[in-house]
Amino acid sequence: MKFFIDTANLEQIKEAQALGILDGVTTNPSLMAKEGISGNDNVMNHYKTICEIVDGDVSAEVIATDYQGMIEEGEYLASLHPQIVVKIPMIKDGIKAIKYFSSKGIKTNCTLVFSSGQALLAAKAGATYVSPFIGRLDDISTEGMRLIEDIRLIYDNYAYDTQILAASVRHTMHIIQCAEVGADVMTGPLSAILGLLKHPLTDNGLAQFLADHAKVNS
Ligand code: G3P
Repeated sequence: MKFFIDTANLEQIKEAQALGILDGVTTNPSLMAKEGISGNDNVMNHYKTICEIVDGDVSAEVIATDYQGMIEEGEYLASLHPQIVVKIPMIKDGIKAIKYFSSKGIKTNCTLVFSSGQALLAAKAGATYVSPFIGRLDDISTEGMRLIEDIRLIYDNYAYDTQILAASVRHTMHIIQCAEVGADVMTGPLSAILGLLKHPLTDNGLAQFLADHAKVNS
């Protein structure tokens, strides 16, 4: 499973990249706003900076919601850097735009996906990634992980190339469950990724090893 980090925070992106396990980055307008990035030039420069930090795909979301606007914006985003993936919302014009970008060889990430029917459409249109938001489904008392399982089944039935990018991952168990049900990619916060490291028996065991070593080497 690929690990993407879901943030526009450069320090967190650098920390995840330094771990050597990062495969890409996802952003959205809310995450850019959280970092105080505003104005077209600043936003575009921020995407380029992120691309220079990481080796993998970097999702940059269009703001337009009409077909022509998404095409123009997406083409501009894609021209910024070869690692940019154009992130398009799951709406009617979005599906048309994904089809267009797919025919041009431009990578896309279909975002705001909350049902397997939406994921089927994204795959039919040729999306590179589909982003089901599992945390937001959990928020409304729906089993978000079930959606990843449903999409996995459908995509496997027809060997669709679209990669399932589990998004709105909120905590470490989400990451483990994504791996169990066969998500191709998960995107989550740095805290959830670092949570995978933790086990008290590891900490206790290491403390004991070091203490025993010190006893005979002091
Ligand atoms: O990857 C999508 C993500 O940014 C949304 O996460 O936590 O706002 O639901 P969240």
